[in-house]
Amino acid sequence: MSLVATEASATTDSAGPLLAIQDLTVRYGLATAVRNLDLSVNQGQALALLGVNGSGKSTVARALSGLVPVAAGRIHFQGHDITGWPAHKIRRAGLIYLPEGRGIFPDLTVLENLRLSACVIKNRSERAATVDRAMELFPPLKARAKNHAALLSGGEQQMLSLARALTTSPTLIVADELSLGLAPKMVDMVFESLELLKGTGATIILIEQYAARALEFAENCALLQRGVLSWHGESRTATSEIIAGYLGGAAATGV
Ligand SMILES: Nc1ncnc2c1ncn2[C@@H]1O[C@H](COP(=O)(O)OP(=O)(O)OP(=O)(O)O)[C@@H](O)[C@H]1O
Ligand SMILES: [Mg+2]
Repeated sequence: MSLVATEASATTDSAGPLLAIQDLTVRYGLATAVRNLDLSVNQGQALALLGVNGSGKSTVARALSGLVPVAAGRIHFQGHDITGWPAHKIRRAGLIYLPEGRGIFPDLTVLENLRLSACVIKNRSERAATVDRAMELFPPLKARAKNHAALLSGGEQQMLSLARALTTSPTLIVADELSLGLAPKMVDMVFESLELLKGTGATIILIEQYAARALEFAENCALLQRGVLSWHGESRTATSEIIAGYLGGAAATGV
């Protein structure tokens, strides 16, 4: 863990967790996708949210970011009760959701993509400096600044998605299956980018279907099974028996 993240988590431990989910239930019509979920994340830490297809991972992310209504329970972020807040207000408060798929504009250049996400920064020189900083942090993007995003490799597109998040000075990033469909080398690139973001002090919820890499990255881990929290704790205590027991052997040995 970086120095920044260690200091940040020490600061907020006394003030309570950065994110606290209490008794969260989310429904799609009559179907309950997430049931009575209790989970918290401290500032500067990373949480791996794991589960097989359809276990409710993205639903949790959507509920946190205001994209689906909460049927019951409360969500506190930075001490504020954000339950029921509209998505744009949650985003502005610094909780950034990177959805499945890339969330970038393929017809715009890398630079245009970054400028667009930074456009919330009113001050012009500050805005330009933020875009420059994002490109310094991700050299492959700097080298391709004038290329259309559609021409980037899958891993570079995820890198751009993370760089876009960075320009918004996120407090909490919820990254949904960034490694999905990527070749192993590209997955390495994505995890290196996540480490960089973590080094800036950002708190990260990493949603993954495959456990091994996510557990290496995140201090803490939560397992969802059919919308219910089946296990949570420190990643180092999540033995392969636990992971395989809840997720099945294939998920436990995946990327
Ligand atoms: N818009 C929707 N309308 C109705 N049901 C939905 C909707 N989105 C998801 N569901 C259902 O809710 C449950 C949880 O889905 P969710 O997308 O949260 O799972 P997930 O863990 O993210 O899965 P995956 O690993 O495949 O992305 C599933 O049974 C799914 O079919
Ligand atoms: Mg999902």
